[in-house]
Amino acid sequence: MNMVAVPRWYPFYHEAISNVLSQKPEAEVMISACADYGMLHTLHHAMTTVGARPTIIIYDICNTPLKSSEWYARKHDFPVQCFCENIITADIEKSSFDLIVTDEFLSVLQDAYKPLVIEKWKKILKPGGTIVTTAMTGNPTTPVLREGYAARARRLFDIYGPLVIPQPLDENGNREKLLAQFKRFAMYHTRHMIKAELQIRQLFKDFKFLSIQRISTPGECVNPTDSFQVTARLEG
Ligand SMILES: C[S@@+](CC[C@H](N)C(=O)[O-])C[C@H]1O[C@@H](n2cnc3c(N)ncnc32)[C@H](O)[C@@H]1O
Repeated sequence: MNMVAVPRWYPFYHEAISNVLSQKPEAEVMISACADYGMLHTLHHAMTTVGARPTIIIYDICNTPLKSSEWYARKHDFPVQCFCENIITADIEKSSFDLIVTDEFLSVLQDAYKPLVIEKWKKILKPGGTIVTTAMTGNPTTPVLREGYAARARRLFDIYGPLVIPQPLDENGNREKLLAQFKRFAMYHTRHMIKAELQIRQLFKDFKFLSIQRISTPGECVNPTDSFQVTARLEG
């Protein structure tokens, strides 16, 4: 429904993840919050492209994305380990990961929490470890944009609904209930956007290598929305 950014919006993930996995096929990889199985699918695609068999650990504060990722891993017959915890406060061993991937996590966090997550990532990455992520930039979401956003989701559901939810929804008012949830999501969904490229540079200032590419995305509430595709590597 284009209500929220998904890893498929960002073409750089495949190459950035494949680069790390081709150098270290048995890498220890963390998905640092995920929302659903989309990031795991992106990682899996890179694994199969380069023939890597990484160890995959997934953290999220919510169980739903973990269940979704476990479903995906079972379906494709590879192991994942999931932890339902707050990444900022979770007790994770120092220098555990070669690669941390996550889609739009920084734009989910209020500004005060962004440096805390970067600190945690720095601590749990091994020397030479890499972060691959995206972070959205744009203007605040106004009430008018929220209305338009909900209306667009309803229009898209009219066209593509049966592909997303194949079972009939009209009985018992279920369709209306779902559409009401679209509206509710549009009214509350708030991005804590990156203000400028400089903010990313400051957040990742301790990383030895930093690549930032700005691209236009299909957009959520603000259309078009831009995003930064970020690869950051610690000194090896
Ligand atoms: C990775 S982010 C964004 C993903 C999505 N593609 C988007 O653009 O909104 C969303 C995920 O972060 C999780 N999350 C938010 N704060 C968290 C925290 N402090 N620790 C762990 N997970 C967190 C949420 O539960 C959610 O599944």
